[in-house]
Amino acid sequence: MDLRLDGKVALITGASRGIGAAMAAEFVAAGAKVMISSRKEAALVETALAIESRFGESVGDAQVAVFEANAGNPEAAEACVSATIERFGRLDILVNNAATNPYMGKMIEIDLPRLDKTYDVNLRGAFVWAQQAWKQSMAEHGGNIINISSIGGLSVETSIGHYNVTKAALLHLTRSLAKELAPGVRVNALCPGLVKTDMARALWESGEDAISQMIPLHRLGEPEDIAHAALFLASDASSWITGTCIVVDGGMLL
Ligand SMILES: NC(=O)c1ccc[n+]([C@@H]2O[C@H](COP(=O)([O-])OP(=O)(O)OC[C@H]3O[C@@H](n4cnc5c(N)ncnc54)[C@H](OP(=O)(O)O)[C@@H]3O)[C@@H](O)[C@H]2O)c1
Repeated sequence: MDLRLDGKVALITGASRGIGAAMAAEFVAAGAKVMISSRKEAALVETALAIESRFGESVGDAQVAVFEANAGNPEAAEACVSATIERFGRLDILVNNAATNPYMGKMIEIDLPRLDKTYDVNLRGAFVWAQQAWKQSMAEHGGNIINISSIGGLSVETSIGHYNVTKAALLHLTRSLAKELAPGVRVNALCPGLVKTDMARALWESGEDAISQMIPLHRLGEPEDIAHAALFLASDASSWITGTCIVVDGGMLL
C-alpha cells in the first residue's frame, strides 16, 4: 500500500532534530505540508531548509514552516496551532514528539523543578497541544494525533524513572483521548526503543556494539525507523486503528 499524505497538514513538536526531524522529512516526502516546532528558531530553519532541498522539488508544492515554541508552554501551543492553520489553511495531524532530556538517577531523589519540567513538557504538554488542535480544528474537521511515548512507558528502567512515568501516563492519555474523540479523531502512540539521537546519546554512545548484541535485530534504531511507523499511523492505511501503541524497538522489549 502506498502511504501518502497528499493535501494533509501536520504539526510536529520537537522537530528540529532527531526523530521529529525525520518524521517531518518523511511526511513531506509523502506529500504533506508540515509545521515544525521546537524551542530554537535557528535550528528549525536549518532543518526546514534541509528538508526542502532534499524533497522540495520531487514533491511539488510541499512546504515546511517553522514556529518557535516550548512544548511545556500552553500559550505557545495555542499560538503554534493557530499559526499552522493560518499558514496552511488546516490541521490534520498533530505529533506530540517533544520531550525533556531524562533526569538520570534515582527517581526518589529527583528535585521538584525537574519533576515539574518533565511532567509539563512530556505529559501536560501533549494534553494541552491536543486540546488546542481539537479546539481550533479537529472538533469540526476531524484529525489524527500521534503521541511519541517510549518502551520505557511499558517497562521499568530505574535510571530514568520519572521520565518513564510520564511516558506510561502518555499511553493512558492516548487511550482515553482515542475513546473520547472517536470517531472524528484517531489517537495513537509510538513506543520507540533506543534510537541514535542526541537525547539518548548518554545511553548508547559508549557501548553501541554491546547494546546492539542484546537487541534481537542486532542494531540500534535510527530516527527513520520511527518516522516510517509514524507515517503509517498518519496515513489512511491505519484508518481502523485508534487508542493503541506501536512498539518500534528492534525486539528490545522481548
Ligand atoms: N532517542 C531515543 O532513544 C528515544 C526512545 C524512546 C522515546 N523517545 C522519544 O522520542 C521523542 C524525540 O526524541 P529524540 O530522541 O528525537 O530527541 P532529540 O534528538 O534530542 O530531539 C528532541 C527535539 O525536541 C526539542 N525539544 C526539547 N525540549 C523541548 C521543549 N521543551 N519544547 C519544544 N521542543 C523541545 C529539541 O529542540 P530544542 O532543544 O531546540 O527545543 C529537539 O528538536 C521524545 O519524545 C523522546 O522521549 C526517544
